[in-house]
Amino acid sequence: MPDAAAYTPSAVIGSDLPRIDGPLKTTGAAQYAADFHFPGLVHAVPVTSTRAAGTIRSIDTSSAEKMPGVVLVLHHGNLNTGNAGPLFRMAPGGHGGRTSEARPPLEDQTVRYWGQYVALAVAETLEQAQTAAAAVTVEYEADPVNVSPKLDDPQTDELPLHTESKRGDVERAFASAPVKVDETYVTPAETHNPMEMHATVAVWDGKGFTLYETSQGVVNAQHVMAETLGVPRENIQVITRFLGSGFGGKLFPWPHSALAAAAARQLNRPVKLSVTRKMMFMDVGHRPRTQQHMKLGATADGKLVSLHHDYRNHTSFGDDIRENCGEATPFLYSTPNLLVTSALVRRNVGTPTPMRGPGAVPGLYALESAMDELAIKLNMDPVEFRLKNDTLTDESQNKPFSSRHYKECLELGAEKFGWDDRTPGIGSMRKEDDDNIILGWGVAGASWGAGRGPCQASVALLNDGTARVSCGTQDVGTGTYTVFAQVVSDRTGIPVDRIRVVLGDSSLVPGPTSGGSTATATVLPAIADATDNATKVAIATAISTAGSPFHRKTADSLAFSEGKIHIKTQAASTGMPYEQILKMAQVAAANGEGNSGAINSDPKARNYSTHSFGAQFVEVEWDPGIARLRVSRVVSVIDGGRIINHKTAANQILGAVVMGVGMGMLEETIYDWRNGLPINSNFADYMVATHADSPQIDVHFLNYPDPILGEYGARGIGEIGLAGVAPAMTAAVYHATGIRVRELPIRIEDLLKSTVTI
Ligand code: MOS
Repeated sequence: MPDAAAYTPSAVIGSDLPRIDGPLKTTGAAQYAADFHFPGLVHAVPVTSTRAAGTIRSIDTSSAEKMPGVVLVLHHGNLNTGNAGPLFRMAPGGHGGRTSEARPPLEDQTVRYWGQYVALAVAETLEQAQTAAAAVTVEYEADPVNVSPKLDDPQTDELPLHTESKRGDVERAFASAPVKVDETYVTPAETHNPMEMHATVAVWDGKGFTLYETSQGVVNAQHVMAETLGVPRENIQVITRFLGSGFGGKLFPWPHSALAAAAARQLNRPVKLSVTRKMMFMDVGHRPRTQQHMKLGATADGKLVSLHHDYRNHTSFGDDIRENCGEATPFLYSTPNLLVTSALVRRNVGTPTPMRGPGAVPGLYALESAMDELAIKLNMDPVEFRLKNDTLTDESQNKPFSSRHYKECLELGAEKFGWDDRTPGIGSMRKEDDDNIILGWGVAGASWGAGRGPCQASVALLNDGTARVSCGTQDVGTGTYTVFAQVVSDRTGIPVDRIRVVLGDSSLVPGPTSGGSTATATVLPAIADATDNATKVAIATAISTAGSPFHRKTADSLAFSEGKIHIKTQAASTGMPYEQILKMAQVAAANGEGNSGAINSDPKARNYSTHSFGAQFVEVEWDPGIARLRVSRVVSVIDGGRIINHKTAANQILGAVVMGVGMGMLEETIYDWRNGLPINSNFADYMVATHADSPQIDVHFLNYPDPILGEYGARGIGEIGLAGVAPAMTAAVYHATGIRVRELPIRIEDLLKSTVTI
């Protein structure tokens, strides 16, 4: 591993600083996209298809159009006939950014999934628009629907196999391995259910658009919308000041944004379109169903010799979305023979999209479940088995890891959990104060990629003693606002409460999408650069200003710390506050711009494989008397580089573990096999984990700065918290009940087969 980074930050880095935007959120002052309102605003409600496959034969909008308050009903037939010209003006083949669906809405008469937008009703009030949308009648030529949950139907699913990673010869090694596992694991479609649903408020000013959006990437959204609507980029401003989370569902624009904007242009009035909870299950992505065949072989003493991961995921008929289940497989363990293959299988479902830890999370459910099964066959402790196959080299790329402490994650987790007290026999452990409860203990490893994109930032040190830092990124709720303030404070000594952070606006200098757990690593170097450039300007001002105590000193002899400019060799307390210098010079601010490049533009980084690691330890309580399963305790150890804010980082892992309980026991989007309707499209029937389902959660960060990720060495910790939770749960369930659940979520029906008795 490379040498540790030389930079030693101040105490504000790694502190427990609460979110600086917290008061705005808790008092209701924070404005989310759907909160924006403008004079003359009208409401848009989509009409959604009631078939999952087929062709629209006719659309009758006549009664809807006559209803009170209705100002427009858009559909394929009148798409290009409005006063403002064609609704969508995409240049063929070109994309300024990444969209969620390849083509704009209403483009053709083909229906590919239940709930697809087929028309849009716009009216003075929301109720009028809802009533008008309900009055639109659509006739369909229905085609057979395929939402089969089996992803290997030889009749329909002959899609080419894609090789993702390969070394050695898995066939031969597997055949001759003395101990093996050959099993298939299934994860269901899951729906992103952030508290804040998607919404767009679109304002057209005759030349350009202001779009109040629920976006995890305002700059990307600006590019996509400029392309879709056929206006120059500078004529689109995308604003997302606050997000009520997204989980990946808001990474890339969905068709409703384009519909709202196009209607605003056509009507020359602001348009608000809020996606309903029901539409969340149809129109704005989901984690696709996966079916993963794992073949693992080991020597009798527990050395992995063969690993074959073959997976399929469903995708829509409108796009090719690969759920990268082999994300972690090629490098997590040492093995001379490895093969990862994949295939896409089309179903009549909406287009899938990334959902928290896309690929790796369902992929690790399969890999870590198979590892647990192999450990049991080897009669080895599952922690010991993983330690035995640990490696400091990414064998898929023949590169060392920039920083990997997977071993320590497992060892520290085992210690904190009390793993030594585990007795391996099925159903052999009882709850301390209740003999009727069987305990199950399980473990699984976690990994998630670490990366850094390009970024710019601007910093102004103002002559009122405050600072302003801005960037065209956004805070998905994870603490990005707070991290910006911490870095400026770290480098200037200006207290955090005097630093104003401006994000969530595509007109700011370009910043990253809040995705892939890369935003923190991406923004840190740009903020640091901008801040250092601003302090240099402040120092230069101190040197050039007559009357300044530092007039005509050399820049080398001065320093900026504790908010003061001072002689480098003397304490900051002997210096002068920067705002006094700026006032003396009669300037409003010392400004600095900052820039940083993507990790792959750094030649040093190319020599290393960069990932985060973790270990999840789970305790379940199984009450066979009433067939009740609860997750009672989780220890999560994360090797995510340097932790910038301990509170927001721990919040990420706590939330992810709760989501993991949902993934393990509750979450599943169910499509009616007869017609493709997602039948549990509400919070009563699609269950997510709540407080009552939450275990006691103990989060530990190893906090080793990763020098390849930059001066601060932060890798990002949003998604890894979910990785490994579900397989650790099913391992714990096996330990308690003897039932191996290979298809999520765990069901009572599965557990009732248990023969373990009290
Ligand atoms: Mo995450 S799925 O990259 O928002």
